[in-house]
This record gives sequence, structure tokens and C-alpha cells, in this order.
Amino acid sequence: MIYLDNAATTSPKPQSVIRDVTNALKYYSANPGRGGHTPSIKAAEAVYKTRTAVKDLFRVSSEENVIFTSGCTHSLNTVIKGVLKKGDHVVISSMEHNAVLRPLHRLKEKGMIDYTIARVTPGDNDATVNAFRDAINSKTRLIVCTHASNVFGTILPVERICALAHAYGILFCLDAAQSAGVIPIDLSENAYDFVCCAGHKGLYGPTGIGLLLVNSDVLLDPLTEGGTGSDSVNPSMPDFYPDRLESGTLNITGICGLGAGIRFVNHHGIDKIYRHESRLIQRLYHELSSISDVELYTADPKTIPFAPVLSFNIKDCESEKVSEYLNRRYGVAVRAGLHCAPLAHRMMGTLDRGTVRIAPSIFTTDQEIQTLKIAIKNFSYNS
Ligand code: ALA
Repeated sequence: MIYLDNAATTSPKPQSVIRDVTNALKYYSANPGRGGHTPSIKAAEAVYKTRTAVKDLFRVSSEENVIFTSGCTHSLNTVIKGVLKKGDHVVISSMEHNAVLRPLHRLKEKGMIDYTIARVTPGDNDATVNAFRDAINSKTRLIVCTHASNVFGTILPVERICALAHAYGILFCLDAAQSAGVIPIDLSENAYDFVCCAGHKGLYGPTGIGLLLVNSDVLLDPLTEGGTGSDSVNPSMPDFYPDRLESGTLNITGICGLGAGIRFVNHHGIDKIYRHESRLIQRLYHELSSISDVELYTADPKTIPFAPVLSFNIKDCESEKVSEYLNRRYGVAVRAGLHCAPLAHRMMGTLDRGTVRIAPSIFTTDQEIQTLKIAIKNFSYNS
């Protein structure tokens, strides 16, 4: 199998991740912070170790501001529903994932809030920032913006959009689902109020674990309430992080696997991972440009900064048909369709049939990209 769906979930996982998940199941299968016995203490130590690794990777101000969630969707929902009050307005980009659009849409349907979609102009950051400025109104409380499109790899000018938000007294939430582990994020330098990350993508952890990094004094309303092992006599949730947002038993295996994934990323270095994946995408872009039936949607990745994913179509063929062919004939795994990002597809004119998306990881080889190229060429000639 040639696995090129790493923007959905990285695979394979590093051996160290598999080992630490197994060790967690064997040795730390207990509730951290809920008992004085040895397995509970070991579980608490393991959780703290990963919290520290996250803090160091993203330069978060303290371990307390690292919140474990079930995934990036959970983190985004926590911010959106934890910040917004009746009458608020939100601005999002035209490349947001349904993890942002759907919670906002539901709040809008309930008559709680309103939102505006700011159009991204790939390759023209001034135009993109101006679109955000134009979308802000006196009720805007929050801007949620993806760091990089999960479909087209477009990197958004998030530092400038965050500065704009703060100039208007608006909170800024970064959706780092596709960037964490691939593009550096440094909260000692970037003023993003909230950063939401998936654990199972560029951080090489298991599925079912995510991160919410809090870089603001705002006390979010919890999405769920329950036991935290702290302040238990109080019927209200604690007013301190991380406990306020971490009710119920934590995902110890996921957290241990995520810790190993982060150590794996540190060992290779984010810059090296980015260079490796970008080189493969640039090579593929170049190869596909010479196949007349292939339709590419982005500028040459050599000319603009991008996250290492590439979307294309062949002739007027359904994207799903191409991915099914790649899987059946060549054992190549890619994702086709809308990638849960209809806004991005609407913007790029691909809503009707979606795209075929290629997403390499640090494990992807030149030989695999070569096989993919041959497979695409053969489809193009035979279809
Ligand atoms: N959001 C993930 C993707 O882009 C699942 O495939």
C-alpha cells in the first residue's frame, strides 16, 4: 500500500508511538489525579510529560494552558461554544473546514449568532486581509481561521489576520489541523488566543486525541461538565485550566501516543519534515503539469508558500472514480470528494465533483510519488 492520505491521518505511525500506546495500556491504565496508588500516579506523570512536550513544542506559556481534547473538531467546538454569547458575530475564511462551519451554522440557525465568510485570495495576502477587515462589524467577537487549507494547501496570512482581530478587540482562534507538526507555531511570538490541533495528523499520534492551546486570559465556558478530580465539592466546574475543560477520564493511551509522536517530530525537526514533504509535492506538481488531462488548481508550489497537499482532477472524471482506480489498480490510498471543506471547493469551483488529494508524510518516498505519477498517466490515457 502506498499511503498518501496523511492530511486525513498520518500512517504508518512511528514505532515509538505504537510502543508508548502499548505501554500505556499495560502500565498506566488508571485514572490520573483520581487516586494515590501507583498506577494512578504513573498515569498522571505520563500525562504531565506529554503536556510538557506540547508546551515546549508550541512555546505555550504553561502546562496548564495545554488542554487535551478528543480531536481538533472538539477543540474548535470548545472555543466556538465557549466564547460566543447571544448576539455575537464571527468572521471565518472561505477555506474553513466543516468543523468550523457547522457549529457556527447551528448557532446561527438557533438565532444565537451570525457569521460572515471572508474570501481568501490565494497569492494575494493583502486582498485576503482586506476581506477580513471588511467582514468585521461592531458585534464581531471572534475570528476563526485555518492556518492552511486541508484541500489546496493554501497558507493563510494568519499572523496579519490575528493582528487585525486584536486591533478591533476581537479574539482569534487558529485552526492548526493541517499545520501542527509541519509549519512552526510559536506562541511566545504569535498572539493567537486559541490554537486547535489534531493529534493524529502532523503530530503522528493516534486518532481520538487533540489539543486546545490557550494563549489568552479568557475563561472559556466548558463544552462538557463532569468530574475532574479537583475541587470536587463544588457543583460548578473549576475556574482554572486545564481542569475546566477536561472533565471525565482522560484518553491516557492517546496522550502517551501523542507524546511519542511529538518526540518523533522533534527528532526529525519540523523544518526537515516540511522540506521533505514540500519537495515531493513540488516534484509531483511538476510531473502532473505535463499531463494534459490533469487539472491543477493552485499556483506552482515553487512560487508560493503552501502546506504540502496537492489537489487535482483528471478530465471531467469524478474524483472518487480516480481514487477508487488508484486504490484498486496500484494500492495507492488518497482522499477524493469534498474533504469536509465545501467552502474551499465552492471557492475554487470544484464543489460539483471535489478533487483528488495527495498528502505525503515524512515516510513517503520518491519511488512512491513516481508510482503515483505513472498511475495517473495510465488513467489519463486509458479513460
Ligand atoms: N479533515 C481531514 C481531511 O482533510 C479528515 O481529510
